[in-house]
Order: sequence, then C-alpha cells, then structure tokens
Amino acid sequence: MSTSTDISEIADGIYRLSTFVLDIAPPAGFTFNQFLVLGDEPLLFHTGLRRMFPLTREAVGRVVPVERLRWLAFGHYEADECGAMNQWLAVAPQAEVVHGNIGVLVSLGDQADRPPRALADGEVLDLGGKRVRWIDTPHVPHGWDAGVMYEESTRTLLCGDLFTQLGSGPALTSGDIVGPAIAAEDLFQYSALSPGMGATIRSLANLNPRTLALMHGPSFAGEGRAALLALADDYDRRASHAVRT
Ligand SMILES: [Fe+2]
Ligand SMILES: [Fe+2]
Repeated sequence: MSTSTDISEIADGIYRLSTFVLDIAPPAGFTFNQFLVLGDEPLLFHTGLRRMFPLTREAVGRVVPVERLRWLAFGHYEADECGAMNQWLAVAPQAEVVHGNIGVLVSLGDQADRPPRALADGEVLDLGGKRVRWIDTPHVPHGWDAGVMYEESTRTLLCGDLFTQLGSGPALTSGDIVGPAIAAEDLFQYSALSPGMGATIRSLANLNPRTLALMHGPSFAGEGRAALLALADDYDRRASHAVRT
C-alpha cells in the first residue's frame, strides 16, 4: 500500500485526492482517487478503501476539517468506492450517505450506520455554491446501483470507474484518455458488458462536460463529450464482437 496521498484542485473548488498503489497491476501500478467538492455542504465522492481510511482522512483534513463533511457519495457499492463509509460517518457527525434509489434500496439502507439520502435519476443536490446531479447508469460500468454525479457550475463529471487506466500519470491531463481506458478494459475486463452500455455512456456525452474526474487515472480537461463518445463506440464494438462470437 502507498503511504501518501497527493492533492490537486482539478476544477474550481473540486479537489482530487490520489493514492498510488504500486502492487496493483505492476509495474504500472494503479491509483485510487477521491474527489472533495467544496461548498457550504462539502461532499466527498468515493470514501476510499476501509484500510486506506487513515490516509484518506489525513488528506481530506488538509483541505477541510473532516467534521465539516456533509455528504458521502460514490458510484456504486464496492470496497474502493465506499469501504470507509461508516468510518467517515463516525468522524463527521453531520455527514449523510447520498446515492441513487437502487443503491439505497439494495445495500445502503442496511449497510450505512445512519440512514442514507436517496436521489432520483436527474435529481440535484444543492451544496451551496456547487450543485451535483445524480445520474443513474445501471450496470455501467458495473453494479445494478451504478450512477455518476455531475457538478453543474464547473461542468465536472465525477465518472467513477469509467475511463479506468493504469499508472500514476499527472493529476490533470488534456491528452488521450480513451486509448489507456481501452487498454485497461482489455486487461481487467471490469465492465459488465451489455448491449445498452454504449448508449448509456453516449447519453452522458450530452452533458458536454469540461472536466472528467476519473476514479482510477488522471482527471481530464477538454472535450469530455468527444472522449465519452469514443468510449461509447469502443463498448459498442466490444458488445457486437461478443454477440458475434
Ligand atoms: Fe467499481
Ligand atoms: Fe473503482
């Protein structure tokens, strides 16, 4: 496990907390990123792994007092997305877990130590200075409860496992993120490949995001729409190949 977490502001008031782990997919290694969205009610997107909590807590504390955290959000119920959820609830007394309806119904209503807040598809959570919209993406890239969040004022898509890539790259890039994502999918096969996957990713392109906040990889500044359309095309290619063979 890594022993340090790097912090960068990747959009106005949105901080990327990145921990690099060399032991996963060596020699390239792998990053785990959380995103802290500042506002009157700060939101942390991804809690980090349970065993990484001391590291993540220290990193959040460098940006905002941890007890000020108001919302804990993540794309789907899985250890790297939400393993430290209850540790955060314990140190941040006002914090609530917030997720889509399916996640609350299937897992979080039971697993979270305090009652979670459920958001409908497209519902906006006003953080005071920032507005995050929940968007259902069932089974994309995996998990029935899967979804993403979109911060409207900075046009930042918190896209979770989409565009996962290996390596320790820069905090923010305007270079290609589609090629490395295709390579990582080839290696890990982490997506629940389905006929609708391309269409779901294509619908996110309509948001026309300016920044893509990847959970595993650098953040991307540029034509988010073009990157999402290219990724969607690649999943369509994979799905039709799977059907043919
Ligand atoms: Fe995941
Ligand atoms: Fe992940």
